[in-house]
Amino acid sequence: MIENILNQKNIDEDRQGEALFNPASLKNNGKKLFLESYGCAMNFADSEIVAAVLIEKGYVTTQDESEADVILVNTCAIRDNAEVRVRKRLTEFRKRKVTKPWLIVGVLGCMAERIKTQLLDEEKLVDLVVGPDAYRDLPNLVEEVSGGQKAVNVLLSREETYADITPVRLDQNGVTAFVSITRGCDNMCSFCVVPFTRGRERSRDYKSIVKEVQVLIEQGYKEVTLLGQNVDSYRWNLTKKGEIENLEDETVNFAQLLEKVALVDANLRVRFSTSHPKDLGDDVLETMAKYDNICKHVHLPVQSGSSAVLERMNRGYSREWYLNRIAAIKRILPTSSITTDIIIGFCGETEEEHQETLSLMDEVQFDFAYMYKYSERPKTLAERKFQDDIPESVKQRRLEEVIEKQHFYGLQKNQSSIGDICEVLVENVSKKSQDEMGGRNTQNKVIIFPRMNVQKGEFTQVKITNCTKATLIGEIISTNN
Ligand code: SAH
Ligand code: SF4
Ligand code: F3S
Repeated sequence: MIENILNQKNIDEDRQGEALFNPASLKNNGKKLFLESYGCAMNFADSEIVAAVLIEKGYVTTQDESEADVILVNTCAIRDNAEVRVRKRLTEFRKRKVTKPWLIVGVLGCMAERIKTQLLDEEKLVDLVVGPDAYRDLPNLVEEVSGGQKAVNVLLSREETYADITPVRLDQNGVTAFVSITRGCDNMCSFCVVPFTRGRERSRDYKSIVKEVQVLIEQGYKEVTLLGQNVDSYRWNLTKKGEIENLEDETVNFAQLLEKVALVDANLRVRFSTSHPKDLGDDVLETMAKYDNICKHVHLPVQSGSSAVLERMNRGYSREWYLNRIAAIKRILPTSSITTDIIIGFCGETEEEHQETLSLMDEVQFDFAYMYKYSERPKTLAERKFQDDIPESVKQRRLEEVIEKQHFYGLQKNQSSIGDICEVLVENVSKKSQDEMGGRNTQNKVIIFPRMNVQKGEFTQVKITNCTKATLIGEIISTNN
């Protein structure tokens, strides 16, 4: 995991500003690249594509921004505060050009796509703007900037999946890796900027996904997380209506892809994110139940517990539908953890509607939740149709109520697992203490335990002895390797 192992594996913009590093390239062109990433796991996976594209052309990555010739910031636009943070960072990088005029500063990712040339022409913060579907063009664009020109490519594609590019793993953990299976999103949730920044949904060839997983296993990786904005809508060789596109090729839906990946190696842990409540079918849950190595954790963002709010959000499901999917998870995967995302204070949210979110939380009892105040995004359906009319103080109070409830259930769930023995994949040494190791169990719960003599990448049996609301604490019973 890239971030502190004490945090949950994160799929939102809270993972911020991590500088990435990889071993030196063989055909060094003398230029050093500093790459910093914000946003969701998909952005982090994209940074590994960016690194691959530039390393191939002889760039060497560095963790030290002061020695960089090229600084690239892979950005997120999901909420306003994500963009504020990036602007601050770009301003800092910009200042470096005073003493180092040849330094190239570029903006990549969702913010680049959202505001296009504004950061270059009007704000003069960057030299280079590259959207998420244009990373193959990066070496040329950087060259253009070196030649004194401005360079922009924000074209979105209906086909690009970077299927043939082997990502350069940048996280240094060597145990867990992200594998993109779809790009873009066709859902048009009214609050969401992603369809505008990432374009149309497209699925990557399952053969290249399986191949990437095989390579990861050869490199010693023990866990993969399959990534997409809506993994359940993965489909290879099938149109949206379910018609076969090419009679010569196999058709593969998400449940079938999951099975193919699980079958690559029974010792490889398989996770995925994010499921969409309107598309999560029993077939996916049944495949999860069938294979021990598919982790028992479903991240199912609910956003709101009120059907009226969900309707305004254009989510495509009601409270009842969501609860029906939760019932299916609990029936088919009784040991699975369930996590979610919640938006507080969406346009027109009444006190009763807010109460419905709280009561849904009581019904489901999520293991973990990401909770956000609604942030209006330009061009979205909500910005055009509705008023962002919930006062900040009300949003804040409602957020605190939702957080308090979640902490209650999070702690209760963790406390109920004291005494349990679970299998943990050891990921890292704890940042707090060299004498502690950390990893996650199948439910994606972070567990910290005394180091003993286990190594990163090993599976070990841990008995849970204590907990906080976010972390389990345990001791090693035995090592499986
Ligand atoms: N594709 C995933 C979510 C991707 S964005 C899904 O459909 O569930 C991650 C989370 O950010 C969302 O689940 C939502 O809770 C939050 N989010 C997205 N847009 C937001 C906005 N405008 N304001 C506040 N939170 C937002
Ligand atoms: Fe955004 Fe909705 Fe797509 Fe998720 S499913 S990325 S929330 S539009
Ligand atoms: Fe952010 Fe783009 Fe991901 S807006 S959440 S980095 S898809």
